[in-house]
Amino acid sequence: MTESEGSNESAVELATSNIRFGPGVTRELGYDLQDRRIQKVLLLTDPHLRDLQPVTTALASLDAADIRVTVFDGVKVEPTDQSFKDAIRMADQVEPDAFVAVGGGSVIDTAKAANLYSTYPADFLEYVNPPIGKGVPVPGPLKPLFAVPTTAGTGSETTGVAIFDLEHMHAKTGIADRGLKPTLGLLDPDNTRTLPPAVAASTGLDVLSHAVESFTAMDFRKRLAPARPKFRPAYQGANPISDLWALEALRMVRTYLPRAVKQPDDDEARGMMLLAASYAGIGFGNAGVHLPHGMSYPVSGMVREFRMPGYPTRHAMVPHGISVILNAPAVFRFTAPADPRRHLEAAAALGEDVEGVPPEDAGDTLADAIISFMRRLGTPSGLEELGYTVSDIPELVQGTLPQHRVTKLSPRAFSEQDLALMFRDALRHW
Ligand SMILES: NC(=O)c1ccc[n+]([C@@H]2O[C@H](COP(=O)([O-])OP(=O)(O)OC[C@H]3O[C@@H](n4cnc5c(N)ncnc54)[C@H](O)[C@@H]3O)[C@@H](O)[C@H]2O)c1
Repeated sequence: MTESEGSNESAVELATSNIRFGPGVTRELGYDLQDRRIQKVLLLTDPHLRDLQPVTTALASLDAADIRVTVFDGVKVEPTDQSFKDAIRMADQVEPDAFVAVGGGSVIDTAKAANLYSTYPADFLEYVNPPIGKGVPVPGPLKPLFAVPTTAGTGSETTGVAIFDLEHMHAKTGIADRGLKPTLGLLDPDNTRTLPPAVAASTGLDVLSHAVESFTAMDFRKRLAPARPKFRPAYQGANPISDLWALEALRMVRTYLPRAVKQPDDDEARGMMLLAASYAGIGFGNAGVHLPHGMSYPVSGMVREFRMPGYPTRHAMVPHGISVILNAPAVFRFTAPADPRRHLEAAAALGEDVEGVPPEDAGDTLADAIISFMRRLGTPSGLEELGYTVSDIPELVQGTLPQHRVTKLSPRAFSEQDLALMFRDALRHW
């Protein structure tokens, strides 16, 4: 029995990793490990990042601190159960004292899984979110994990979430438990200098959607109270703590995202986007996301031939931020009637003039604000550009239904028919 009998929730909890922010903080990594008496680490990254500056700087710092390092550069961008298992096998072999993840969400999430399964071995679906997996809580403390994000996007350095694609089901799912949170996130603006503009745009729009979704999610007081604190879910619903982080993240996105994408040498903009990603991560890591993310999982899981121009990957895939943002305008048009004021507040934080806008126009106002960012940043114009047509909608809807963990936080109840209409609305935005 994980919920109390009948009474509604009245408390919220803020959980996050420690965060250090500043140019050059990657060079401090070796000291952090030395001070914790760590001697042997497994450093995870992806093949493209392997020879780039964030990894070379981290390795130099570890070397200077006399730490023994094994590098695993087999992380798959948009990881799968198979690529998680490859990393877990490596962790089993190396038996490190700690993990270091240098990369985007794909790398940090893979490191969380490697840490979990090598520390508490189990059947792969044991810890995976229900209904796909069993959702067994992380049994105890994990080894230290140091996360060095190289994208300004997922906020994975602050969250207890690890997302992957379960290949045989063509569905993205994940593991969610506060115990997975990294020990320390090192936010170093120097590490995003080599980010291709297409990745900066996609990951920045993920930040935008994290913030709007957590701000508009179902109110935390609508859930049932947990029977004991440890059963309080990580995704608690919109609440006064996460609101602060979400709104501030939106204001930062408004000012700095276009600059960070268009002028990669703008150190201030890139730094502020790294912070915005963590702020939004703290917001959604404690409130949750809802339909744009729930609907994004089949959009990326069912990919056929799509390759995002400007992405440094060869395989067919829909970048996470793109799969999310393409659903967002349609979703907020649908959810706005549940709380027009919040939808307008989010639009205002993104720079829209909402003075005098009537509540019935809140959804369109927020959708227009998001579409204007998408157009400025050069995203595809809708799901159609990824290769989806009306005939794919039933499968997209079926792929969304198992994503309870996030879709149950929608502020407005929805049916399969509503989901189908939202996917239809997302086929083309301009
Ligand atoms: N754990 C969470 O809380 C959470 C939240 C949102 C998304 N995610 C997951 O994170 C993954 C996406 O992560 P992401 O959007 O950060 O991107 P990513 O890690 O998939 O990286 C995208 C691409 O950019 C390249 N790249 C990354 N940093 C670079 C740099 N500094 N210079 C040059 N190239 C660089 C990578 O090599 C890769 O090709 C998805 O699987 C998504 O589902 C996790």
